[in-house]
Amino acid sequence: MGGGETVIVFSDLHMTPGPPGAGPDPAARFSAGLSHALDTHPRAALVLLCGDLADRGDAASYRRLRDALDGCPVPVMPMLGNHDDRAAFRAVFPEVPVDGDGFVQRVVPLGAYRLIVLDTLVVPRPGEPFTHAGELCPRRLAWLDHALGEAGAAPCVVALHHPPHPTGFAAMDAIRLRDGDAFHDLLARHGTVRHIVSGHIHRTISGSHRGTPFSIFKSPMRQMPLLYDGADSSVECDDPPAFGILTLHADGVLVQTEDFAAP
Ligand SMILES: [Fe+2]
Ligand SMILES: [Fe+2]
Repeated sequence: MGGGETVIVFSDLHMTPGPPGAGPDPAARFSAGLSHALDTHPRAALVLLCGDLADRGDAASYRRLRDALDGCPVPVMPMLGNHDDRAAFRAVFPEVPVDGDGFVQRVVPLGAYRLIVLDTLVVPRPGEPFTHAGELCPRRLAWLDHALGEAGAAPCVVALHHPPHPTGFAAMDAIRLRDGDAFHDLLARHGTVRHIVSGHIHRTISGSHRGTPFSIFKSPMRQMPLLYDGADSSVECDDPPAFGILTLHADGVLVQTEDFAAP
């Protein structure tokens, strides 16, 4: 498509340290998807990896992701999700910028737009059990407030792994972004966010929440079946893998999804 900046979006890679004993290999899936994306969008400005980079947040899986990205001709912006480990990720990807508090957040200028990338991985409180939910917390919300202020009148796209709104899947809504209301209060105050990009559900979903459009993308791995009331957030099916394509143009944001052949 002519005009505008193109962003390729892969979410929920769930990389493993090596080929798994059974089931699809995340590295093979991602590599097949990435080469299809780069063949079809050679002039993309960015590859955005929308969290759940590694299935268990271990260094070997991040090294395998690093290998899969080797030679990628397009800049890559990795984000964290609930399956990630911030310290292990930062040890393997030391060049990825972080904010003043060490969160993997940054503002990426893309033409007239500002892509604001957020880190929604929970920092466990003492005694709190592990959760797959996400949070921004007061420090990250303050960083977002500042980033939106600095962007001025520029149109913004915000990317965060955990959807900051319900999606209709009960088990996933129970582990969505905890402070979604505060997030949307900020967006309403600034009025410049044109689109929200998320992952986490492993399913193509789009709509709007409090007036802001959103898109959620499938995974290169397993997908969420259409079971709204299922109690299990890890239920999955073999629907085709996919990635997303955003085109940020003068009049708005165009969103596509592309299924690709599983190797
Ligand atoms: Fe995931
Ligand atoms: Fe997730």
